[in-house]
Amino acid sequence: MFDLSGKVALVTGASRGLGRADALALARAGCDVVVADLLVESDPNLEKIAEASDSVMARVMVTDQVVFTERTAREIRELGRRAEALQMDVTDFQMVREVVDRVVEQFGHLDILVNNAGTHDHAGQIMDQSPELWERDLRVNLTGAYNCSQAVWPHMRARNFGRLIFMSSVAGVAGGFGQASASTTSAGILGLMRSLALEGARHGITSNAVVPGIIATESFRTTPPEMVDRMVLRTAMRAPGRPDDVAGAVCYLASDEAAYVTGVQLPVAGGIDLFTF
Ligand SMILES: NC(=O)c1ccc[n+]([C@@H]2O[C@H](COP(=O)([O-])OP(=O)(O)OC[C@H]3O[C@@H](n4cnc5c(N)ncnc54)[C@H](O)[C@@H]3O)[C@@H](O)[C@H]2O)c1
Repeated sequence: MFDLSGKVALVTGASRGLGRADALALARAGCDVVVADLLVESDPNLEKIAEASDSVMARVMVTDQVVFTERTAREIRELGRRAEALQMDVTDFQMVREVVDRVVEQFGHLDILVNNAGTHDHAGQIMDQSPELWERDLRVNLTGAYNCSQAVWPHMRARNFGRLIFMSSVAGVAGGFGQASASTTSAGILGLMRSLALEGARHGITSNAVVPGIIATESFRTTPPEMVDRMVLRTAMRAPGRPDDVAGAVCYLASDEAAYVTGVQLPVAGGIDLFTF
């Protein structure tokens, strides 16, 4: 629908779920895509990395065998685009800078950043939220988005063009029962997104956020089924969204058609954010 030919995108947390769908949709729209995640399936040290990592998610991914970083890049190449699968921990500022510099060197430029990497692996009321998970969520969801945005900024400024797309959440706008850290970081993302919209406007850089409701991705395996049922009942459309619903919004925000759209939070939520009864 949107023509992104000649553009290069970096999608974080793209081995599965929303990130993988975003990467494939951007490629279908003509983009070359760098697919980045904690783990790359072809990595012979997969198990070791997962063991050493403090990420519950990394361990879940290895156990569930849902690491599709390399496969996603392969599928993008089959579409006739350039693609690279890279290991990148968004919390590691130095690693992020190295990856971004490498991408610019290899692809010539970097036009679109989808700040999608996130922790979506636990729910629990405040007394059950450990300080460790709270800290980790801030580090991945907020600091990770800051790290990546900061790393791409000089490259986008130099070309007077950039598209920053953040992944927030309805919980960031409305709050989320049993989701203190998810909700807090999703709200924080909106502040970062708006600040960068203001700072980027004079440099041809737009900054926007997609605000998903409940979208059926692999991470739903870690959400208690009764909680999913309750969320579906609260959704006006009475069904979870598909990853491609979010990917469509990402392609729009990356496109020339959205050139004058900045500082916006775009719900893709089937009406869960509406007053439903
Ligand atoms: N699925 C939903 O219903 C939903 C709703 C609202 C918001 N979101 C947000 O959208 C984003 C993607 O959600 P999802 O459902 O696809 O989740 P997911 O758990 O399936 O995917 C998240 C990806 O991020 C990666 N990741 C985690 N820590 C990382 C790190 N330190 N460095 C790099 N990558 C890392 C994971 O490995 C995983 O591949 C998340 O930020 C999530 O909070 C999802």
